Amino acid sequence: MADECIEGGNVASDAAAIAVAFAAEGFDFLSLSRGGKFDDARQPRVGEAAYPYTGRSGYECMPSYYSDQRGPFGRNAAASRLVREAISAAGFNTPVISGGGIHGFAQAEDWLADGIADIVSIARQALADPDWFRKVRAGAGETIRLCRYTNYCEALDQRHREVTCELWDREGLADPTVTRSKDGKRRLIAPPSASPAE
Ligand SMILES: Cc1cc2nc3c(=O)[nH]c(=O)nc-3n(C[C@H](O)[C@H](O)[C@H](O)COP(=O)(O)O)c2cc1C
Ligand code: SF4
Repeated sequence: MADECIEGGNVASDAAAIAVAFAAEGFDFLSLSRGGKFDDARQPRVGEAAYPYTGRSGYECMPSYYSDQRGPFGRNAAASRLVREAISAAGFNTPVISGGGIHGFAQAEDWLADGIADIVSIARQALADPDWFRKVRAGAGETIRLCRYTNYCEALDQRHREVTCELWDREGLADPTVTRSKDGKRRLIAPPSASPAE
């Protein structure tokens, strides 16, 4: 966690100290997300489990398009940079993976060029279009299904239902070979994309 984003929790400077200790122990890499804590999760209804993406720290981890002035994208950048710089200043080169609100290739590239991370991680955009990486590499950006950041997928996860994406989970349901969710209403695997030339 580059920042726990909870009252009294670890902030980026604490994360940096922890990261240096991990680097000194020889960790192969450090992967940094932020927030998403149970500590500030909404009180669950009777019979339900607490879900760690329902409080402020949840928003910080998985921001939706409802946002504040900072906007939903790249909120983990400053903390990740601090952690990576601390590792480097301590004489280690342990690779840092960082993500959170990475929505496009240019932004990912900026994070790498700018020293925020050695590797960029992507969750929702990769669910929205599992072929994102291939399409970007092939220069077929216009064919990418762009994540809407509505957190439809997160709402399914919260209810312990199979996680799918709103952009494709109703497509091609007439095809009897499509693997469906338990309720039969959604496809579980994204439909194949037209294969971009690589
Ligand atoms: C449906 C869903 C489930 C997730 N479950 C977990 C989890 O169990 N543990 C975890 O550390 N992060 C979990 N995450 C958070 C992601 O790892 C990531 O930190 C977050 O989505 C921000 O990245 P993104 O903006 O690229 O989606 C989940 C994200 C999604 C969308
Ligand atoms: S359901 Fe799909 S489009 Fe919606 S937030 Fe999740 S990954 Fe993005």
